[in-house]
Amino acid sequence: KKGDFDHFMKKEIHEQPGSLTTSMRGRLKDGIVGLGGLKDHMRTIRRSRRIIFIGCGTSFHAALAARPIMEELTDIPVTMEIASDMLDRKALIFKEDTAVFVSQSGETADTLLALEYALENGALCLGVTNTVGSTLARKTHCGVHINAGCEIGVASTKAYTCQIVVMVMIALAIGSDKLSTLAKREDIIAGLTKLPEQVHDVLELDGEMKSLAESLIDEQSLLMFGRGNNYATALEGALKVKEVALMHSEGMLAGEMKHGPLALVDEYLPIIVIATRDDTFRLCNVRDNNSHLFYCFFFLVSSCIIFLFIYSKQQSVIQQLHARKGRLIVMCSKGDASLVCPDGRSRVIEVPQVVDCLQPIINIIPLQLLAYHLTVLRGYNVDQPRNLAKSVTTQ
Ligand code: F6R
Repeated sequence: KKGDFDHFMKKEIHEQPGSLTTSMRGRLKDGIVGLGGLKDHMRTIRRSRRIIFIGCGTSFHAALAARPIMEELTDIPVTMEIASDMLDRKALIFKEDTAVFVSQSGETADTLLALEYALENGALCLGVTNTVGSTLARKTHCGVHINAGCEIGVASTKAYTCQIVVMVMIALAIGSDKLSTLAKREDIIAGLTKLPEQVHDVLELDGEMKSLAESLIDEQSLLMFGRGNNYATALEGALKVKEVALMHSEGMLAGEMKHGPLALVDEYLPIIVIATRDDTFRLCNVRDNNSHLFYCFFFLVSSCIIFLFIYSKQQSVIQQLHARKGRLIVMCSKGDASLVCPDGRSRVIEVPQVVDCLQPIINIIPLQLLAYHLTVLRGYNVDQPRNLAKSVTTQ
């Protein structure tokens, strides 16, 4: 059942072009997103005062990766809740809220208890799961299956990327009535159709990630810095390394670096910095009517500002780390190696640049491969890490 692969985790990482295609199958037609499971509730979702993403572990990270585009396309504030923390705090939740529960198994105890709590409080509950007929699928008012296929490795890989794609499609569906984001939505839909092929290209980095893993095999710790769309990538990359390679790893918000973590930086501690470009400065198609031209111009100017803001900020993080002789591994967009590391001292991982909200799907793949190779090289059980279970059904 593992085919040509030594482990399920490796097989599942390499299955991602296919699983993403299956996730999208029948849901994108002629530039329109159709999600049958949400159709009857779309009016209520659009009118909600707030969207709350709720999940645990990797599923929480997938929701975090989808949060910026959900806010951008829907104009509804999006907040994040880790299921156990939501229960500990008895967080406020109202009947005007749409609560989105994300869980690949659909059986995680904390997530199900948070669901009971949200139902009691009258929120509209939407499920995003990989398991047809799971408790989550049955108890939510509506939902979308991610159709990632069966995942055997305890460390989630293909379910993570399919969860993001599904949540991007949900954002597209909710925001489909807004003219102001039409160009962006068209861009994303074009990006989604090309995505499986680009994921296939990133998988070519396998050998490079193995060689990077060889250089890190004896390390005690590995930090990962990300921001914006890729804060979730840093958290998820670090979780993968932690859970399978049994190495301390922490994902951090790059903007927080100078508020403490900078003290850790020296020439020994390896740090992965995710510094891919956000594709927000795309040249719009010139349309044949003036209002479209205005929108294009406005979009171009505002996008350039956002791009310069985020991208140059990540550049400055790299400079500060260099200034402290940090041992950097920089993930950047193809062709940017000399820009992010002018002196050629750091290791660089180049990945294709895609539309900003899909970049986390591309960027996590080298980190999944890195975690896999580190584990095998360190001699640990990659498919069944110690102390962990695929589905956490106890509190
Ligand atoms: C890590 C991983 C876990 C799960 C978490 C929630 O690779 O898989 O962090 O994401 O236990 O599980 P689900 O998604 O089934 O609710």
